[in-house]
Amino acid sequence: MTTWVDVGALADLKFAPGAPVKVGEHWVALFRDGGDLFAIDNACPHASAPLCDGTQFGGKVACWMHHWEFDLRSGACDVGKDWGVRTWPVRVVDGRVQIQVDASTPRA
Ligand code: FES
Repeated sequence: MTTWVDVGALADLKFAPGAPVKVGEHWVALFRDGGDLFAIDNACPHASAPLCDGTQFGGKVACWMHHWEFDLRSGACDVGKDWGVRTWPVRVVDGRVQIQVDASTPRA
């Protein structure tokens, strides 16, 4: 079963370049790219640096610590298929950002 979780008003989020939000016990990084919004795991799978603080370019974010790159749409990592991050369905309803979670999402 899936459900949408409200993580705040889009206007209140601080994108630098990503905006970290907490979903249950899990940190997710939101990124704007063009007119779209994307959500990926915030913790880099290499050494857990926050991807929200990386460098965003061309639909990707590069981790600030060792520069691994992650596709914002797929979560794929340039280092290899075993190092991707989870992507999360995200939508904006009446100015509020919602992330879709399922039974695998760690809860508070
Ligand atoms: S911690 Fe992100 S690339 Fe090393």
